[in-house]
Amino acid sequence: MGVMHIPGHDRQKPREVTLEEIRAVLGDCRLCQLAETRTKIVFGVGNPHARVMFVGEAPGRNEDLQGEPFVGRAGENLNGILSLAGLRREDIYIANVLKCRPPGNRNPKADEVLACSPFLREQIRSIWPDIIVTLGNPATHFVLKTEAGITRLRGRFHQMGHFVVMPTFHPAAALRNPAWQELLEEDFRMLGDYLARHPADGTVLPATEHSEALPRAEE
Ligand code: URA
Repeated sequence: MGVMHIPGHDRQKPREVTLEEIRAVLGDCRLCQLAETRTKIVFGVGNPHARVMFVGEAPGRNEDLQGEPFVGRAGENLNGILSLAGLRREDIYIANVLKCRPPGNRNPKADEVLACSPFLREQIRSIWPDIIVTLGNPATHFVLKTEAGITRLRGRFHQMGHFVVMPTFHPAAALRNPAWQELLEEDFRMLGDYLARHPADGTVLPATEHSEALPRAEE
C-alpha cells in the first residue's frame, strides 16, 4: 500500500500568538478565587512546536510550589509511560485546564474553568498540535465538550474541530487503580502507533492493528 495524503488535513496554523504573549496576558491573574490560595501560577511547559499536547486538570501541591505542571507523582507516572508512545518529555507540551491549585486538590468549579480556560484555548491555538491528549475527566469534558465519562471515551481518537483528541485516564488516578494503569499504558501505545502512521508532513502510512481506532466522527 502506498502513502496517501488526506485531503483537507491542513496543519497550517491560522495565526501566530506566542506562548510568551499568552503568559504576559495572564500576568498575576486575579480572575477567580484560586488567586487567594495559590503559591505559583502553573502556566504550562514544554516544546512550543509539540506535535502532542497533554492537558491535565489543575496543579497539585508540588506543581503549586514549583510553578510547573506534572512534577509530582502523577508527573513521574507520565514521564515513565511517555516512551510507550515514542515520546520524550522535551517533545511534548503540558498544560492544565486550571492554572492555579484548588485548595486540597478539590475538583475545579465551573466558574474557575470559565475564567481560566480561555488561556488554555489560546495555548492550544498557539501550539496547534497534531493531537491533544486529555488526562482525566475535567480536561476531557472541557476539550471534547461532553459530559461522558473517561471510561466510555478512552481507547479511541476523536475529532474536535481542527484537532485529533485522545482522552485517557489521569496518571494520578491510574496510580490508585492498576486496571486503569494498564489501560492508560495501552492508550499510550495506541498514541505511538498513531504518531508513527501520521508523520508530521500530513501523509498517512498503511494500517496496523490499531487502525480501527483511528479518528472518526463522534456518535
Ligand atoms: N495533576 C494535574 O492534573 N496536573 C498537574 O499539573 C499535576 C497533577
